[in-house]
Amino acid sequence: MRFQDQAVLVTGGGSGIGRAVCLMAAAEGARVAVGDLDADRAAATAEAVRDAGGEAHPVQVDVADPASATRFVEVAETALGRLDVLVNSAGIREIAPVLELSFEEWQRVISVNLSGTFLPSQAFGRRLVAAGRPGRIVNLASTLGLMAAPQRAAYVASKHGVVGLTKQMALELGEMGIRVNAVAPGVVRTALTERYFQDEAMTRVIRDIHALGRWAEPEEIARAILFLAAEENGFVTGSILAVDGGWTTGKKM
Ligand SMILES: NC(=O)c1ccc[n+]([C@@H]2O[C@H](COP(=O)([O-])OP(=O)(O)OC[C@H]3O[C@@H](n4cnc5c(N)ncnc54)[C@H](O)[C@@H]3O)[C@@H](O)[C@H]2O)c1
Repeated sequence: MRFQDQAVLVTGGGSGIGRAVCLMAAAEGARVAVGDLDADRAAATAEAVRDAGGEAHPVQVDVADPASATRFVEVAETALGRLDVLVNSAGIREIAPVLELSFEEWQRVISVNLSGTFLPSQAFGRRLVAAGRPGRIVNLASTLGLMAAPQRAAYVASKHGVVGLTKQMALELGEMGIRVNAVAPGVVRTALTERYFQDEAMTRVIRDIHALGRWAEPEEIARAILFLAAEENGFVTGSILAVDGGWTTGKKM
């Protein structure tokens, strides 16, 4: 098993893609720290991992808060005894025309998505370097980290920031044995997007924008995340892997 006895930390582990990563990593032998702002959701994922025969520890964390993000890494290291992989899956988004977006909303999205990727990654990187150990970080970018979309100014800016941060950390931490990569998913059916699927016209648009004519399930993104996190793919760093059903491949005429 690729993650036998490895410590895998996941932010946003209480729902969607992060939850799928927790379950899949545990099924491959990892011991998991499930971080989420919502303590109940983190506990529910940890219970699902344990029900499947794995080991998981729920940790309440606000990734946008420096002290909380640092504490998450410390608590996880104490619980798991080591650090190997960090997956930054906590994220939120706004929907508003750019001229109507409030500064508070802008700040909230940038704080959770961009600072909330930087802070746990910095704390994780510091602990690894102090211990002289290698590790891997996988970030959640988005197709909207590669291009714009209507009414998503803060989200698009935050995810372009995640792409830049991924490259920057890969560059600075490579010689310390820390690989940093990101996935850029297309539309994935999770709590974040569930509202889209209540609207027939929107569901049609979602089918149309992807070359494959469908959306993704969280497990399909989790599989790509674990590819980037696996030791066997040790020469991959600074990569932004589109897992987008061909959305960014081109526009249908
Ligand atoms: N679903 C998609 O279509 C899609 C597409 C591209 C990228 N993404 C990205 O993937 C990641 C996961 O998205 P998802 O669809 O699984 O969303 P989700 O809403 O199902 O899960 C996100 C989790 O993050 C947690 N969270 C929110 N703010 C937090 C904070 N401050 N601290 C800690 N946890 C916090 C939430 O409680 C939730 O459990 C996000 O970064 C999202 O932007 C999602």
